[in-house]
Formats: sequence, C-alpha cells, structure tokens
Amino acid sequence: MNGTGDRVRVWAIAGSLRTDSWNQKLLVAAAALAPEDVDVHISDVLPQIPLFNEDLIGNEPAAVGRLRAEVQAADAVLIVTPEYNGMVPGVLKNLLDWITFPLFACAMMDKPVSLMGASTGKLATARAQSGLRQLFVYNRALVVPSPEVLVNFAHEAFDSKGQLIDPMYRDRIAHQFAYLKKYARLNTMDEVALNS
Ligand SMILES: Cc1cc2nc3c(=O)[nH]c(=O)nc-3n(C[C@H](O)[C@H](O)[C@H](O)COP(=O)(O)O)c2cc1C
Repeated sequence: MNGTGDRVRVWAIAGSLRTDSWNQKLLVAAAALAPEDVDVHISDVLPQIPLFNEDLIGNEPAAVGRLRAEVQAADAVLIVTPEYNGMVPGVLKNLLDWITFPLFACAMMDKPVSLMGASTGKLATARAQSGLRQLFVYNRALVVPSPEVLVNFAHEAFDSKGQLIDPMYRDRIAHQFAYLKKYARLNTMDEVALNS
C-alpha cells in the first residue's frame, strides 16, 4: 500500500498488441469499474519487451527494467489475456518469463493477481487463464480464485462507447476487485507482522 492512506495500486496489462484489441477494451472497462480506493495503472510496456533470452540477464534491456519496477511498485496485478490455440498468447508469456527473474525473488512474488480475458469464441479464455494460474505457481503469486471474468463472443459484449453490455460481467469485475483489494490488504498486514 502506498503512503497516501489505504489506496491500493494495481498494475494492469492486456496481453494483445492488436490496435482494436477486445482485451484492451476489457481492461479499460474494468479499470473504470474499480472501487474508489483502487488506482489502476494501465501499462504500455508490452510492445517494447524483447524476446526473452537468458543471455541478456544481468544486461537486460531498459524496457524490462521498467516493467520490473512498475510491477514491484504495485500492491496487486491485473492481467487481461486473449487466448491463442488454447493457450496464453506468446507476447504475454514472453513478458511474464522476463519478470520471473530473479528466480524465487521475482517482482510477482506474493503479489495478488486478478485474471480476466475476452475472446470472440464461445469458451472465452478459460484455457489461457487456467495456464496463467499454473504459471503463477512458479512465481508464488496469489491469484484470486473466483469469480472468473470470461467474456465470450467479445464482438457482441461491448457497446460503441466500450461499455460492457451484460451487467453480469460488470458484477463479476466488481467482485474480483473486492477480492483483489482484500488480498492486497492481507499481504500488507503480513509484511507489517514480518517486519516487526
Ligand atoms: C491464430 C488464432 C488462434 C486463436 N485461438 C483461439 C483460442 O484458442 N481460443 C479462443 O477463445 N479464441 C481464439 N482466437 C480468437 C481470439 O480470441 C480473437 O482473435 C481475439 O480477438 C484476440 O484478442 P484481442 O482482440 O485482444 O487481440 C484465435 C485467433 C487466432 C488469430
């Protein structure tokens, strides 16, 4: 938590480079639904992240340093993922591989994480989100178990202003934020306890 009271800082990213990305729209819509005491920072770092190469560790590109610093400064993380061939998109997996370093002391460690996703298909991003849950085991990140935010038939889910048409999605997003906040606060209390 930052020094301005009990506000929760959430670092957020959508795993798509596409100009008209539904997941970027979902992220913007979700940020607008965040509780009053939650600040959502939508990162624009994804297009600058190079392909992961272990040879670059120790001499890593500036964008990776920025990514790591942004995540480190946040109380919690929100990831909005597309799904390709039943999996996490390569660009997002690539970014997450970078912030897994340093191993066992990475910026994601103990970080509360919300997952959301949109796809034009029926199953939304269930498989990609399931893959992310598995990935975050290695980071020891604390993924909010439920409710899941799975926006299917994304091309029908938003109005012309980018609002989510179905109130069920808005309710689920609000519910997810409530849990993310709760986890972020529990985490801060742990730190206090550990440091005292
Ligand atoms: C190569 C390819 C594979 C895809 N695989 C899946 C998939 O496995 N599951 C799914 O729900 N949608 C799949 N889609 C559809 C994407 O969900 C859709 O393109 C979506 O709009 C991508 O996210 P974005 O709009 O945020 O860029 C696939 C699309 C492409 C081009």
